[in-house]
Amino acid sequence: MSVVVLDFGSQYTWLIVRRLRELGAQAVVLPGDSPAAAVEGHGPRALVLSGGPTSVDDLHAPCPDPALFGLGLPILGICYGMQLLARHLGGKVTSGRREYGRSRVVRHAGPLFAGISGTPTVWMSHSDAVTHPPPGWQVVAATEENPVAAIAAPDGRTFGVQFHPEVAHTEVGRQILGNFLTLAGIPRDWFPARKVEERIAQVRSQVGDSRVLLGVSGGVDSSALALLLARAGTAHMAVFVDHGLLRLGEREEVEAALRGLGVNLVVADAAGLFLRALRGITDPEEKRKIIGREFIAVFTEAARAHGPFEFLSQGTLYPDVIESAGSVHAAAIKSHHNVGGLPKELGFKLLEPFRDLFKDEVREVAQALGLPDSIRLRHPFPGPGLAVRIVGEVTPHRLRILRQADAIFIQALIDHGLYHRVWQALAVLIPVETVGVTGDRRHSGMVLALRAVTSTDGMTADWARLPHPFLDEVATRITRDVPEIGRVVYDVTSKPPATVEWE
Ligand code: XMP
Repeated sequence: MSVVVLDFGSQYTWLIVRRLRELGAQAVVLPGDSPAAAVEGHGPRALVLSGGPTSVDDLHAPCPDPALFGLGLPILGICYGMQLLARHLGGKVTSGRREYGRSRVVRHAGPLFAGISGTPTVWMSHSDAVTHPPPGWQVVAATEENPVAAIAAPDGRTFGVQFHPEVAHTEVGRQILGNFLTLAGIPRDWFPARKVEERIAQVRSQVGDSRVLLGVSGGVDSSALALLLARAGTAHMAVFVDHGLLRLGEREEVEAALRGLGVNLVVADAAGLFLRALRGITDPEEKRKIIGREFIAVFTEAARAHGPFEFLSQGTLYPDVIESAGSVHAAAIKSHHNVGGLPKELGFKLLEPFRDLFKDEVREVAQALGLPDSIRLRHPFPGPGLAVRIVGEVTPHRLRILRQADAIFIQALIDHGLYHRVWQALAVLIPVETVGVTGDRRHSGMVLALRAVTSTDGMTADWARLPHPFLDEVATRITRDVPEIGRVVYDVTSKPPATVEWE
């Protein structure tokens, strides 16, 4: 009962799924070349063919299984997807017709454009174009540059659009996708936050009387998961590993919040262990590996001490599911570690109640479950904690300095109403000595870099344009209250080429 989005490698495939779900349609993404049987396994009511970086004429151009065209399903082809429709059904595609960025629809007609008037802006990103629609199809939109911007099949339910209705720059994109869902007769009943009771019941029936173990980090996914297990009345134990690399007051805050919500929480006090293991280590990857390894050891020990458990619950999200299915190819830049990455060898049955959800949807479900906003809307925080925000060796002294400075920065963002305007904010300690002057005396201090970024998923990020008076205030407070810091700088690098964290 869903819309299957076939992914041909567009950077916007996620957005298509997100937009369809926002409109209430149950949408899933599958690799573009999935066999028809695999697609049919999802009970599709419609197909969307995504954009993609290749030309339909390339030797290795990814194609949908031709059997899918014979199922009589409504189809929306977007960009490359439209070109696939044209190529497969007898139209003509010409290469070298590039168009990037904003364009204006100058003519449009038919039910796909119902409720749309004027000359709306649409977003183009293509190097090939359909010049002739398949026989019997109609051209239903044209832009200033492109006479074939949208095409419609005689069935009135299959369309191609050369522009990207899923991106925010396409003003009428939501309306167009909504019109397609209506024409395709797709039910609009995908609102996970309204169906929390169903999710709770599912967990209850899957777990029964078994005992469930889970790791919590204090982030939204694992906290919401713990709360879901508590609400379901399962016999659960949540382990919070205090690796000594947490922010100021973080452990106390997480403990109070989760216990207050009825989560059965055990805190493993392992700060000494982690700091000993990190002594003398300066290489970022080595730090990450050590932390990952120690984390697993501490977690496994806690499980053993309090076990046995039959289930391990993980906050796996939909993007993780797709990534491991091989639809999206990401190069490994850093060895990420988080509570979701526990070893399979532990031999548990897996319980992953959020594996069909995006992060935003987890936030909505978390709200329906009653998770406080202080946790629900928190910035992401890396599994290896402050260790990847201290360049070089991690020592208790450096941790104390970074913790203090970070707390000042984050509190200032909250006080100025800026915290939720950025996606993530952090401070990085660069332990080099720089020269300064205080009270006519020369003194030396370390460098602290402030970083704040805007992003939607952390895959790409732009540095946040925080107001100068705000940065001024934060720098003044940090150098006043944390005397070991002699200089404060603001990181103005985007990702790419930089990453969000410094290590
Ligand atoms: P980077 O530095 O890779 O960070 O641009 C992207 C996002 O991921 C977070 N991050 C991590 N999260 N375990 C995590 O759970 C990790 O090892 C890890 N490293 C980075 C980072 O904070 C940012 O939100």
